[in-house]
Amino acid sequence: MWTNPNHRPRRNRKSAAVRQMVAETNLSPAHLIYPYFLLDGIHRIEAIKSMPGIARMTVDLALRDIEECMNHGLRSFVLFPAVEDRHKDTMASYSFASDNFYLHAIRTIKEAFPECLLISDVAMDPYSSDGHDGLVENGAIVNDKTLPILAKMSLAQAQAGIDIIGPSDMMDGRVGHIREALDNAGYTNTSIMAYTAKYASAFYGPFRDALESAPKSGDKKTYQMDPANKREALREAALDFDEGADLMMVKPALCYLDIIHLLKENFEIPITAYNVSGEYAMLKAAAQNGWIDYDRAMPEMLLSIRRAGADAILTYFAKEFALNYSVK
Ligand code: PBG
Repeated sequence: MWTNPNHRPRRNRKSAAVRQMVAETNLSPAHLIYPYFLLDGIHRIEAIKSMPGIARMTVDLALRDIEECMNHGLRSFVLFPAVEDRHKDTMASYSFASDNFYLHAIRTIKEAFPECLLISDVAMDPYSSDGHDGLVENGAIVNDKTLPILAKMSLAQAQAGIDIIGPSDMMDGRVGHIREALDNAGYTNTSIMAYTAKYASAFYGPFRDALESAPKSGDKKTYQMDPANKREALREAALDFDEGADLMMVKPALCYLDIIHLLKENFEIPITAYNVSGEYAMLKAAAQNGWIDYDRAMPEMLLSIRRAGADAILTYFAKEFALNYSVK
């Protein structure tokens, strides 16, 4: 039996205008962060097979691409280095070397587009011959000896002009350690976006192809979080908050919408979500097979991440969204 016919929720859905007026969540290019995989050298671009539409490229080509993105309302970009094997060692020393092409690229992009927001990735894996985010000793990832390396890497990026440091390594105490190193060197204005709840996920596969950064042995389960855990994300968040994180990230996004919501409810700093490579590849593959309506599914995915509570979304879909979907 229909107990109260006065209530007809469908009235608020009867036209596009009313639906738009009462929409609870919105999504625009201003909420999105677009990633680049940077190569050393000039005028080179390489497609990434498992990430259709995404490529590794040299900074000259990235500059043109960034300009196109900015013309469509994107202003925030995250930069990842694809480092040649000859530069990799156990200490990730290339990450703070003065001739590091990634640091030069940060400087070049910042000079060309001072108004854009550049975010880095801080972890040893792209530079490490072991392919781990921390220092490996006798097969174990040693936390406290990794911290000074991450601090040096962060400081080098700050000196190159990065706006936001993005520690993605999941070592204990790294946010505080990096904050102190930045402050001591006078970089009090350089922000930290902590990868706070980063899970040991199968969805990073295509990214590791892109950077050839997969661990040479073992897995990342002793530092990245167990997908079974939710309360532990609150513990990680409390630590990062206390250590001075300016923004906190949840990663991946789609299987972890509950974690995004949890952090948004409990902490008064912006929450970002990383819509990772495997999530991108999944949708692209279904679309290429004609199994899903990509034009509708892609913005729906991004909207769901915003609805869960993400203030900003780091996503490989950002450029396509900005070019095709933002003006409706
Ligand atoms: C490096 C890092 C990874 C990703 C971002 N930074 C890989 C990893 O932790 O193994 C994955 C991003 C993606 O899958 O899109 N620490």
